[in-house]
Amino acid sequence: MNTKQLFDKLWKEYTERTPSAQKIKDLFISKGNAVFNDHVAFRTFDDERVNIDVLATPFIQAGYQEKGEYVFEAKKLYAKHFEHLTNKEAPRVFISELKTKEFSPELQKEVKNMIDNIPTEALSPAALIFQGRLWQQPSYSTYNKLLTESEYAAWLYVNGFCANHFTVNVNKLNSFTSLTEVNSFLKENGYQMNASGGEIKGSPEQMLEQSSVMADKIPVEFTEATEHITSCYYEFAYRYPKKNGNLFSGFIAGSADKIFESTNMLR
Ligand code: NI
Repeated sequence: MNTKQLFDKLWKEYTERTPSAQKIKDLFISKGNAVFNDHVAFRTFDDERVNIDVLATPFIQAGYQEKGEYVFEAKKLYAKHFEHLTNKEAPRVFISELKTKEFSPELQKEVKNMIDNIPTEALSPAALIFQGRLWQQPSYSTYNKLLTESEYAAWLYVNGFCANHFTVNVNKLNSFTSLTEVNSFLKENGYQMNASGGEIKGSPEQMLEQSSVMADKIPVEFTEATEHITSCYYEFAYRYPKKNGNLFSGFIAGSADKIFESTNMLR
């Protein structure tokens, strides 16, 4: 699959579970903007059958290479970002994994159980990012148990492998000149911003500012009952130039830490 096919397929699946992303994109277009992706992010576990390097397979095959790595101490995550070798229009790819060994034996057992339940034929690295949840129907009690230790683990238990967020490249919007303007526009249109750590994460000094709307909630059929659970969210990024004039291309761990909270259930 080439880069365009890869992201078209991901966008289609992402907007099915995140209807607000398509609506927001259409709003920008209606104001005369062309919408480009800054990055697309994925979540996984550190198990070698599904870890970052496995999820990265289709991107590596499409011409991406590893560019940076990040550690999130409090959330116990490790992440890498990838960029396309030659196509500068291609979005960055950000993949994080939960460091399961730093959690309780119960959480580790639950995660192992999820991955053991994946049918072997579904463990194809090139297609894993499109597969969603590959294990048995989730139980609401297990979901809540995971939630007490890691919102990230609980989110993965329900949502499985998919794009966690797409990110609008705010530098390339025609009718907006800052993230503050974008945030005001979204709030005027009824969207709730993730306010954890302030609506704007990062600063001009850090050369990256990011904001996001809170994740959509979609009905999930648990073994006990149907509940509305957070799916995915849309993010917005504005990048500043480095001393050499090129826009900063990496990520800021402290900012991403707060962005992860866009899938929190408590509002
Ligand atoms: Ni992001």
